[in-house]
Amino acid sequence: MKHWSLDDVAWDSFAASKVDPDIVPLVKAAAMVERNGLDYAVYLGRVFLDDPDFRQAADHWAVEEVQHGDALGKWSMIADPSWDFEAAFERYRNGYKLPLDAQASIRGSRTGELIARCMVETGTSSYYTALADATEEPVLKQVCKLIAADEYRHFKLFYDHMKRYLEREKLGVVSRVRIALGRITESEDDELAYAFHCGNEPEGMDYDHKRCIAGYMSRAMGFYKWKHVERSTGMVLKAVGLPPRGRLSDGAAKLAWTLLQRRRKTFEKALELPLAA
Ligand SMILES: [Fe+2]
Ligand SMILES: [Fe+2]
Repeated sequence: MKHWSLDDVAWDSFAASKVDPDIVPLVKAAAMVERNGLDYAVYLGRVFLDDPDFRQAADHWAVEEVQHGDALGKWSMIADPSWDFEAAFERYRNGYKLPLDAQASIRGSRTGELIARCMVETGTSSYYTALADATEEPVLKQVCKLIAADEYRHFKLFYDHMKRYLEREKLGVVSRVRIALGRITESEDDELAYAFHCGNEPEGMDYDHKRCIAGYMSRAMGFYKWKHVERSTGMVLKAVGLPPRGRLSDGAAKLAWTLLQRRRKTFEKALELPLAA
């Protein structure tokens, strides 16, 4: 059972005057990545072929992710009535493919796969919390809060299954940290950048990864406050088996905050440069 449906959102409360124009392109891009969740469930179904409990949980998880996409897409079309979610999503689907033919996890083990999933849910849970805190627009605030609560539950789901596999696969902390950091840096790959392109750039325009990831990240990173970084650092540490609170966590959160600000500046600078021919 899903925890909420689109009917639970007070769409009538939409307040156009409270829409931050920098949030709209982010919501459009996120809508497409979220709605692509069913494909990821196909991949997980292959990786966890002989684990019916997990496969059932993953199928349910994907339905919730698709609903996130539908809610964000609906909000984007209200905020920008000229935007066509279906058309943008089709463009995205045609140009971005997940490794659906994989027979085993691209992370090298099932534990690794689940750690990577925990990183994604850490990222989404903190991101939607940050957007909910930042926006003054009441409908987007409600949608982001509902989604953030789901993402936190998803983190717990993958974490619990990861603990189960860890007992069998015995992946060391160093390997877990490596997988976690690897997945975090992948957030700058094509998945989001291409969604930003399909959601916000005109059809005839060529996709340029640098421009699109800078367009996305320079805006997205500006919405994070210290408390969001602090919380997600704790979740990352928990997922890799390190203490989520204490001196290590404090130091890691400070480092993450510094890196985030530095990265944000790099992306802002990239947008100012003339486009490569
Ligand atoms: Fe989601
Ligand atoms: Fe999620």
